[in-house]
Amino acid sequence: MNSFSREMIKKIKSENSIRNVVSQYVTLMSKGNHLVGLCPFHNEKTPSFTVYPEKGSFYCFGCGAGGDVITFIQHIENLNYIDAVKLLAERSGVNIIEDNGDNYYEKLKNKILDINKETARFYRNYLKSANGKWALEYLLGRGLTTQTIEEFGLGCAPKDWNKLISYLKNKGYTEFEIAKADLVAKSQKTGRYYDRFRNRIIFPIKDVRGNVIAFSSRRNPEEKDSAKYMNSSDTFAYKKRYNLFGINLAKNHCDDFMILVEGNMDVISLHQAGFKNAVAPLGTSLTEEQTKLITKYTKEVFLLFDADSAGQKAITRATKLFETTGISVRVVVIHDAKDPDEFIRNNGPDAFKSLIDTAVGAIEYKLLCAEKEIEINSDTSKLKYLSRAAEIIASSDDVLERDIYIGSLSEKYSVSRSALTEKVEGIRNNMEENKGEK
Ligand code: CTP
Ligand code: MN
Repeated sequence: MNSFSREMIKKIKSENSIRNVVSQYVTLMSKGNHLVGLCPFHNEKTPSFTVYPEKGSFYCFGCGAGGDVITFIQHIENLNYIDAVKLLAERSGVNIIEDNGDNYYEKLKNKILDINKETARFYRNYLKSANGKWALEYLLGRGLTTQTIEEFGLGCAPKDWNKLISYLKNKGYTEFEIAKADLVAKSQKTGRYYDRFRNRIIFPIKDVRGNVIAFSSRRNPEEKDSAKYMNSSDTFAYKKRYNLFGINLAKNHCDDFMILVEGNMDVISLHQAGFKNAVAPLGTSLTEEQTKLITKYTKEVFLLFDADSAGQKAITRATKLFETTGISVRVVVIHDAKDPDEFIRNNGPDAFKSLIDTAVGAIEYKLLCAEKEIEINSDTSKLKYLSRAAEIIASSDDVLERDIYIGSLSEKYSVSRSALTEKVEGIRNNMEENKGEK
């Protein structure tokens, strides 16, 4: 294969914004509607390297290097055009690569998986050593058993700057490969690599097959200033938005349904309590790709997000994302605890089971939210609520579901069933017309 269709190039460019790609190599700062940083192609002290996100291009006023995202990758990775396109395709999960037996990126990906496996082992052992005692105690203190800790392969990263990199180099891996696994960062000052994860509790992230594809980490509680969570960025072996924490275990326990929670600790805690069908997004808000992954394994998903307002927003977002997947969504609202982990620790597995039994459908959840938001104390506010409710009901494509909610609302608010039905169907007709115009 030595040429790509114009559409393919367009798709690859749209999946790899110049801002995202360049940011993996250069620290960029906003300046008006463009971005600047220190040029990676020549030595400079003041930034003359400029990225134009809208145009999808870059230009260095110091050395004259310039071009689009593909040119950038060609220069920085020393690749020809074809290999640069392949690299970007691989990076963003666009499938163009025909396997011709000597695929450079496939090999690099496998190397990263090897490195990750070795790294997970290193962190696991460190957790068991005297220096990792604080991490083990923290996890035990949060109610995890040693069996759970082992099952999830939890570990501890040393406080030192280069324990991991030395270990991996001793095993024969090169700095380049270790950097590609995103386990080290390069010092601007010395140009030397140092361990990215330091003095942290480590959660290996596994794919459906159980390969360690990346790491999530939580700070030592004594280090209040550092980021609470720090996660691997995307690599050739890891695309954050295509994966879910816990999917390797949950996939075997979700004939009935999956439970979607916000945090790794929630997944682990639920798992320990016997709810082995829990998964969480990986330090991002839920993505469309993650909903598709869930759809592959189950027919129903229970959303169990944190009790705070961010959690409630996340529910709205998630229900919307699931709308087009054909999967049924149930929402559980947590009371008396900030998240599922806390709930289960305070109340135990039986109470958690009862909590799950209180799940409501997505439409019902939205109706409850609207009811809470609009204080119904007059005919005007009642009308406002019922209009909103009609819109919510109209969003269901299931005629029976619409009928059931119309029935219960008309009873609850003493309005005629036919008026409410007319209102809902009117909204649906409008939706159809708008669709037709687009
Ligand atoms: N997260 C993240 N980066 C942050 C904060 C959160 O990646 N700065 C992700 C983590 O995957 C985390 C999840 O979002 O597991 C939920 O965040 P939070 O509720 O703060 O974390 P918990 O895991 O519930 O933490 P805690 O140990 O305090 O219960
Ligand atoms: Mn929590």
